[in-house]
Amino acid sequence: MKQDMIVILDLGSTENTAIARKIREMGVYSEIHPHDISPQELNRLENVRGIILNGGENRMVDGVAVDVSPALYECGFPMLSIDHPTARCERKLDSMPEDDALRDFVFEVCRAQANWNMKNFIEDQVEQIRRQVGDKKVLLALSGGVDSSVVAAMLIRAIGKQLTCVHVNHGLMRKNESESVIEVFRNQLHANLIYVDAAERFLGKLSGVADPEEKRKIIGGEFIRVFEEEARKLEGIDFLGQGTIYPDIIESGTKTAKMVKSHHNVGGLPEDLKFELVEPLKQLFKDEVRDCGLELGLPASMVYRQPFPGPGLGVRCLGAITRERLEAVRESDAILREEFANAGLDKKVWQYFTVVPDFKSVGVKNNARCFEYLVIIRAINTVDAMSASIERVDWDVLQRITDRILAEVENVNRVCYDMSPKPPATIEFE
Ligand code: XMP
Repeated sequence: MKQDMIVILDLGSTENTAIARKIREMGVYSEIHPHDISPQELNRLENVRGIILNGGENRMVDGVAVDVSPALYECGFPMLSIDHPTARCERKLDSMPEDDALRDFVFEVCRAQANWNMKNFIEDQVEQIRRQVGDKKVLLALSGGVDSSVVAAMLIRAIGKQLTCVHVNHGLMRKNESESVIEVFRNQLHANLIYVDAAERFLGKLSGVADPEEKRKIIGGEFIRVFEEEARKLEGIDFLGQGTIYPDIIESGTKTAKMVKSHHNVGGLPEDLKFELVEPLKQLFKDEVRDCGLELGLPASMVYRQPFPGPGLGVRCLGAITRERLEAVRESDAILREEFANAGLDKKVWQYFTVVPDFKSVGVKNNARCFEYLVIIRAINTVDAMSASIERVDWDVLQRITDRILAEVENVNRVCYDMSPKPPATIEFE
């Protein structure tokens, strides 16, 4: 079923996202498009019911105010302009619309129907994917993160075995993480899944490398090489699935918004491996991606997975990675996650993990002196990861986690809790 849509044209306002969200919360689908969309492109979007032009602080680009093509006013769609006095629109507002004014425009002027929901969205995307891909094949790097997992589930729904997923285990995954990717995608959703156990290869390359940036470079570069090798083994792949979501597009910079950070999905593939992209989540916000995953039947543990850095436990096993300390990070992290879930903190705390530094401290075990590693627990809350405050974890919960780590994790004789907010500390240690 086709969903009614309100199009927001981006004239450089940072409020566009908030407006799109408000409209979606009213049950009407809304997309943001560049200001210079042509009437032809606009007419190609299906079920457009109205257009919002929103000027703003970034409207000046290279000293010139950007504007929409005059021909757009002739397309016959109801238009609302915000902070854009020259526009020939039905409705004008001087600032971010109050909910009532927006509601009035969406329902009374545009006569849009509140038929946006995940079921309809998935149905639309499935149809679009089938149209785009035809009988060709799609390749997807499936890390097990929220975005790539939801894309995989969507593509499986749309094209089944025409999708090949590649899961690269770089040996820096959390405990049972690769196993759960295999269980969900191969055993439950019957996906074509290639599992690459590259742990030895990554650990070999990382051996003796202590510099954090160097470690990141090796992990990122090696990941692309492994993925590329797998891609070359497959025949007749024309498309690459990507878990791009709406905030990635905003952060990478639109025509008016400045770039926040470069977006890194599976970039960096060699020039001769050319794929057309399939990005069915690129209009969704993070919470909508989670809803979409649940609707597609993914387990809540996968859909509500906390953020996990691409280089994985590699940046939590500080300095040069050793197997001994990597196991200590993995086992202590698993205990922390289990106890946070038991205490209901997994639904409250934004990110929590353990870190093992590359030094030892003195202790006593079995009446004898020991010289072993320490585990640091970190639990933080944040909205955008730019700044963060620590979670004030209940003393008894911390005690239980500490007791378990000391009893169950080998080569560890001490546990500490990190009290530092960001800034000045970052969330990760490396
Ligand atoms: P920092 O340590 O910069 O972390 O305060 C902010 C957020 O980003 C995550 N993070 C990464 N994610 N690749 C990623 O995909 C990385 O190299 C990386 N480094 C940090 C971190 O876990 C936190 O959520």
